[in-house]
Amino acid sequence: MERDVEKELLYRLGLGESSGRESSAVDIEGKVRQIYGQLVAEYSGKPVRNPYEIQRLLRDRYKLLVSENLVKLVVAAFLAGRPVLFEGPPGTGKTEIAEAILTLWAGKQAFIITCSENYDEYRVIGDFHPLMALRYGFNEASFIPRPLLAALILDAGVLVDEIRRSSEELQNLLLDIIDKRRIIVPEIRRVFRARGIGFQMIFTSNPEDFAQNELSDAFLRRVVRIPFRYPSPEEEAEIVRLRYDVEVELEPSLLKAMIMTVNILREKAAYKPGPSDTVLWARIAGRLAKLRGANKVEMRDVVEAAVITLYKRVGEEDIVDEALEKVFGQKPG
Ligand SMILES: Nc1ncnc2c1ncn2[C@@H]1O[C@H](COP(=O)(O)OP(=O)(O)OP(=O)(O)O)[C@@H](O)[C@H]1O
Ligand SMILES: [Mg+2]
Repeated sequence: MERDVEKELLYRLGLGESSGRESSAVDIEGKVRQIYGQLVAEYSGKPVRNPYEIQRLLRDRYKLLVSENLVKLVVAAFLAGRPVLFEGPPGTGKTEIAEAILTLWAGKQAFIITCSENYDEYRVIGDFHPLMALRYGFNEASFIPRPLLAALILDAGVLVDEIRRSSEELQNLLLDIIDKRRIIVPEIRRVFRARGIGFQMIFTSNPEDFAQNELSDAFLRRVVRIPFRYPSPEEEAEIVRLRYDVEVELEPSLLKAMIMTVNILREKAAYKPGPSDTVLWARIAGRLAKLRGANKVEMRDVVEAAVITLYKRVGEEDIVDEALEKVFGQKPG
């Protein structure tokens, strides 16, 4: 009885044969569908490959303001079989834009691999379940496919976030997979090949972040690098409008002043607020106004909200206060 329960459990984990009537799924493709099928199905639609249509959906569905040019460059890179590197300052939408484009392109929810120093092929391609391997040996039955292999098998996209935090070995491994569009798993003597062009990669990186590795020339040679910059004040205002989610009016002049403030901090402070910070600042100010029962955001809400959204580094509060005073003639009380 106990053994049946164990077998069933292993089967449900996609790691063994079912004791029941359901067909077995010890093959890797079946296992991938069992483990990751649900995730990938979180979004399913027809692949969207037209840059104008992608741009429209990014805006309408994902509330992301992305230039037509950027989308065109990504599409051209994908069609040329090249991965893309989004590089730029924090909070400029790299991660969200990459995930959304990959998802639309494949018509399936993209996989996300968030890099860290100790990420290796076993964490991204697959490894062996220790107990299963002891019992059944190092073979398909004990092999657990990981996101990169799953994406290749399911023809989905992969977002490799913060690539500079990974080791050079991992970068090279990823490039080899992109170059050849196949993954070799020697331990189980299998070669998996991409079936369609839904399998694409976007890397993100923020070169100003601390404790990061350099990207090798070999890596840079193979990717299409798209630099991200802070948006213009007009674009940033549009981003905040897209993301602002409170039914309390935020006047354009007030928003303009907020954007002026973050631009001063981008020049003067060590912590440079990204558009993500501006969005949060506006959302908090809107909520503070709402809590007061007001139907319009006032300057005092904005200044009060600045304390929790712009005071990021100890010792930099004065720089924030100065910027607020310069723009609003007020600083937090
Ligand atoms: N172009 C944009 N359109 C819409 N929202 C944006 C845009 N750029 C930034 N944002 C805001 O920033 C948030 C996304 O930031 P995201 O995490 O993708 O940035 P990032 O560049 O990956 O930052 P980091 O370098 O810190 O990882 C969104 O939730 C939104 O509030
Ligand atoms: Mg990011």
